[in-house]
Amino acid sequence: MMLELSQLSHRFALTEVLAGINLTLPAGESVALVGPSGCGKTTMLNLIAGLDRPSEGRIENRYAATAYVFQQPRLLPWKTALDNIALGLKARRVGRQEWEARAAALGRRLGLTGADLDKFPHALSGGMQSRVALARALALEPDLLLLDEPFSALDVGLKAELYALLLAEVMARGTSVLMITHDLMEAVRLSDRILMMAPAPGRIVGEFRLERAQAERDEAWIYHSTAAFMRTPEVRAGFGLPPPPHPSPAGGGGQGGGLPPAAASSRGPEKKAEMSCGAH
Ligand SMILES: Nc1ncnc2c1ncn2[C@@H]1O[C@H](COP(=O)(O)OP(=O)(O)O)[C@@H](O)[C@H]1O
Ligand SMILES: [Mg+2]
Repeated sequence: MMLELSQLSHRFALTEVLAGINLTLPAGESVALVGPSGCGKTTMLNLIAGLDRPSEGRIENRYAATAYVFQQPRLLPWKTALDNIALGLKARRVGRQEWEARAAALGRRLGLTGADLDKFPHALSGGMQSRVALARALALEPDLLLLDEPFSALDVGLKAELYALLLAEVMARGTSVLMITHDLMEAVRLSDRILMMAPAPGRIVGEFRLERAQAERDEAWIYHSTAAFMRTPEVRAGFGLPPPPHPSPAGGGGQGGGLPPAAASSRGPEKKAEMSCGAH
């Protein structure tokens, strides 16, 4: 099973939002898409989810079940948390007893109490709503999970808790993950590979592999790897950061606050940067 995007381009009216995207996501891999606001990340996920048709190129999704967690929880306000979690199960005509049991068990695994599960979304905190949204996606037992900044509204404690819950689910089932984040540390923490995007039109300008196995990643490694990632020219150019504190002699002269000279080297989508972190 795998997902493959070939030469994918997309336009809204005359504006080219994505250009020449090639991406393969094999079974069991977690890939993070990072890039500045507006570079087309959500558009790419929407295309993969089939919510929109690409202007050009091909998307082949050979996963049996794809689930999508939107940036906003998007819960149905007139249904309880339990009913929201069970939406997909009900759509699949799973019997009542079974969907109730499965949705409740999943809700509890994601830290929701019985009382929470009976509440309507307006009575749940943002963190609780995010748990419900994640549970609703996991209830489908997806083998491909699309996540659009699902943790961006949460505080660090809640994030840490949900990361652990997500990783436990993903590792237990071998789920493939394609997640959007603009939190670079989150990308380093959760993924096997990071794809750096640049805007106008949105394209992939760097690919970074995180070699260390998930179970062996400690906080020190995550901090160290995030720092290394942030020093790369692709990331600095992509987010409009000034050149790194210790520029190479060849990179001198770029003091004006614009893109560092190295940005030129990241223009071609086929010329990808490679970085391996913590391989030992
Ligand atoms: N339905 C739409 N119609 C027109 N323009 C859109 C639409 N959706 C997104 N865009 C534009 O496409 C660009 C990429 O948007 P998006 O994929 O949401 O970026 P990101 O998720 O990386 O922040 C933005 O300039 C945005 O304004
Ligand atoms: Mg977005």
